[in-house]
Amino acid sequence: MRTATPRRYLMCPPTHFRVTYSINPWMDPAKPVDLPLALTQWEELRDRYRALGHTVEELRPRPDLPDMVFAANGATVVDGRVLGARFAHPERVPEAAVHLEWFRAHGYREVREPEHINEGEGDFAVTASYLLAGRGFRSSPLSHPEAQEFFGRPVIGLDLIDPRYYHLDTALCVLDGDEVMYYPGAFSPGSRAVLARLFPDALIATEADAAALGLNAVSDGRHVLLPQAAVGLFAPLRQRGFEPIGMDLGELLKGGGSVKCCTQELR
Ligand code: ARG
Repeated sequence: MRTATPRRYLMCPPTHFRVTYSINPWMDPAKPVDLPLALTQWEELRDRYRALGHTVEELRPRPDLPDMVFAANGATVVDGRVLGARFAHPERVPEAAVHLEWFRAHGYREVREPEHINEGEGDFAVTASYLLAGRGFRSSPLSHPEAQEFFGRPVIGLDLIDPRYYHLDTALCVLDGDEVMYYPGAFSPGSRAVLARLFPDALIATEADAAALGLNAVSDGRHVLLPQAAVGLFAPLRQRGFEPIGMDLGELLKGGGSVKCCTQELR
């Protein structure tokens, strides 16, 4: 069995969640959202983290920012250093300042407002050796050298090519150390080759599990919280010694996000 390490997460309740605009193929403003159900599903995720011994900090939601529930996009934090976000779509731009303000109010000293567009942990994933960085739909390639300089970690740029997987965290999940799972179809041929070279033992997800947003998962080194509909991932995760925990975030899926999108890790 694997060992979990206690984590700190930043989350934002979906108090004002709705789908009134569409900035990714999952969002259909014609489809109604069941807000009370969204809240219940989100609370179950938050409470599950707490039951596993993790700390969850909460960001106060703003009525004019319906996507704030996807807190992973608001910043990237490594070793207490905070690289803020700069959103690609005008609808989400003001979220970045809310995050920066939260970090400043909570004693973080190294807080950088970025020059280039980056959507936080939506496109940055931290492994033991690298900072994996997605580009193609949201984050600018110019945000990669900016992040490398700020964090002093080698950045590996990865090209996303399928609009359904518009953020890196919809197509790749860090399980532990330098162990990842990902869906190759979301990446350009060159990026696929890079991933195969860096992570020869990666868990490779099927198209069906990726389409259930199964890679939008959070691991504490042992427990892997993931969308329960990604049924094909459970057995391979168990084989590797992980404990998969299926979550239902069906209402938030209407916004194009699931477990990981709702969870920013404060490293
Ligand atoms: N509606 C949000 C957007 O399109 C969803 C963000 C999902 N978050 C994520 N980390 N992939 O920006």
